[in-house]
Amino acid sequence: MSAERQPIGVIGTGYVGLVTAAGFAQLGSDVFCIDIDADKIARLKAGEIPIYEPGLAEMVAANSARMHFSTKIADALARARLLFVAVGTPPTYSGDADLSAVHAVVEAIPAGSARGGEQGHALVMKSTVPAGTGASIKRVLAEQGKHGLCYVSCPEFLKEGSAVKDFMSPDRVVIGDDGDWAGDAVVELYAPLDAPLVRTDIASAEMVKLASNAFLATKISFINEIANVCEETGADVVEVAKGMGLDDRIGHKFLQAGIGFGGSCFPKDVNALKQLAGNSGYHFQLLNAVIEVNELQKRRVISKLLKHLGSLVGVKVCLLGLAFKPNTDDMRDASSLVLSARLQADGAHVRVYDPVAEREARSLIRGVHFATDALDAAQGADAVVLVTEWREFLELDWAQVAARMSGKLVLDGRNALDAHAVAAAGLTYEGIGRGSLTSLSG
Ligand code: UDX
Repeated sequence: MSAERQPIGVIGTGYVGLVTAAGFAQLGSDVFCIDIDADKIARLKAGEIPIYEPGLAEMVAANSARMHFSTKIADALARARLLFVAVGTPPTYSGDADLSAVHAVVEAIPAGSARGGEQGHALVMKSTVPAGTGASIKRVLAEQGKHGLCYVSCPEFLKEGSAVKDFMSPDRVVIGDDGDWAGDAVVELYAPLDAPLVRTDIASAEMVKLASNAFLATKISFINEIANVCEETGADVVEVAKGMGLDDRIGHKFLQAGIGFGGSCFPKDVNALKQLAGNSGYHFQLLNAVIEVNELQKRRVISKLLKHLGSLVGVKVCLLGLAFKPNTDDMRDASSLVLSARLQADGAHVRVYDPVAEREARSLIRGVHFATDALDAAQGADAVVLVTEWREFLELDWAQVAARMSGKLVLDGRNALDAHAVAAAGLTYEGIGRGSLTSLSG
């Protein structure tokens, strides 16, 4: 297979870029990975993986002969026709996506390399970009005389923590193009994965990505609001979600109430879609609520602590987990950022522990004590808050935790702990959208 697979370039070696590169190398392509960060490229050349993603290091190592790293886009242009673009598109202050990294890539391609037809190059957009970006990039290409350069939108749906698996067995592959050789070539690249294919126009492909993420975020904010109502009515949201999820029009996934969604995609994409609609004169009311509910949800932990402890001045709070979800070191828009800042503003002393994200977290979270493990974090704590449901926290010996705490409160921000095990250790359990210990015993 490898002999027939065409080489590709991947520009940007973040989560999406590196997983895409390793995935296509695994499928037999030679992959030329480009990043402007010379330090990152040096580390990758030395076989070091700059991010934590289960299975990625192994996949890169297994395909090292086919993976090439460079800071020069010319190295990819010289060997590959398809250039996958996986650079960052962070939100700007206005809520729009910042496309400067994407534009820098377009700028860096010399007009001479944009030959027409089968001999030319194509940009394959993996980064999440607002609908309409393809059209505007095509305009820029025309202005710069890069007429032969084709454009394909191929949004990535992989989830951090299971990115390698998601790449190798995607729910679907979405390819938006102008019906030219480049679209055909991308279809061919993905063919071995045997995934359902949606081949469509560029604007629709762009919108599939934004709408999917906005819908999933809406599902989470919806169940979080149901959880809040459950607290008022004495229902248990875990039971409610179980009952709802059995309706296969609803499904069980993304119905887990908690302390809000974070990460590099949901907050950014929901905002970008809201902004995109607003820019064209449409007020996307529902998404305003999704965002607001999520912000309030992060802060509900504070009101729960206040309810149990009275004041937070001088109180010791232990945060278990900092990453925006388990199995990643990604801290982007993690609920822990808001939580640790709010707690400190209210006068609490904060002790934190995360098995993987500490290095990332240290530059973002100030004034807290970084503990060496969960038990160390619980030392002297009046309250322990589960922020990220890492497996090791689910397997904690609560008697040992209780022995180290000076208080008794355990707030399960992800409804992931065994409430009875916590209670059996003499601690008070409280989750999100379910009764506290007293009504859970039974
Ligand atoms: C998401 C999309 O799932 C993926 O398709 C897209 O490519 C990028 O954005 P990711 O950001 O890796 O992926 O995380 P995901 O697993 O979707 O979780 C996002 C956030 O939602 C996390 O903070 C998680 O804790 C939260 N979440 C998820 C809930 O609070 N409840 C749920 O039921 C599910």
